[in-house]
Amino acid sequence: MALALALAVLLLSGVVDAADDAQARYLLHCRGCHLANGTGVPPDVPTLVDEIGRLVATPVGREYVVRVPGVSQAALDDEGLASLLNWILETFNADTLPANFRPYSAGEITEARKKVLADPLTYRRALRLDGTRAPN
Ligand code: HEC
Repeated sequence: MALALALAVLLLSGVVDAADDAQARYLLHCRGCHLANGTGVPPDVPTLVDEIGRLVATPVGREYVVRVPGVSQAALDDEGLASLLNWILETFNADTLPANFRPYSAGEITEARKKVLADPLTYRRALRLDGTRAPN
C-alpha cells in the first residue's frame, strides 16, 4: 500500500520525465523497423545510430530527418515528435552530433512536416552524409 501510494505520488508529480516519455515513444513508433538500439536492418531500414547526428549538421539535412515518411507521418504531435527526435540524436548520435546542435522545436517540425517527401530514397541518395545535397 505504501509503495503503491509512493508510486502514484511519483507519477502524479511528473517525476517520469521527458526523456522517459521520448524513449517510450521511440519504442512504440519506431522500434518495429529501426530496432530497440536504433541500428535498423540496412540496407532496407537505415540505421539511426551516428548517421543522423551527421545529417543534422546542415539545414537541408535537418529538414530531411523530419520529412522522411516514417517520421513526418508518425501518429505524434509536433511537440512529441520534436522531443523524440532530440532524444534519438542525444542518445544514439552523441558521438557525431555537431557541437552547436540546437534541439528541434515543435514549430520547426510543423513547417518541415508540410513538405512531403514523395521519393525519400532518391532524395536520400543525393544527400551526402555531411548533410549537403548534390545538385540535381
Ligand atoms: C514501417 C517501418 C518504419 C517505421 C515504423 C519507422 N521507420 Fe524510419 N525508416 C524506414 C525506412 C524503410 C526508411 C528509409 C526511407 C524510406 O523508405 O522511407 C526510414 C528512414 C528513416 C530516417 C532517415 C535515415 C537516413 O539515413 O536516411 C530516419 C531519421 C527515420 N527513418 C526515423 C524514424 C523514426 C524517428 C521513426 C519513429 C517515429 C521511424 N523512423 C519509424 C522504416 C521505418
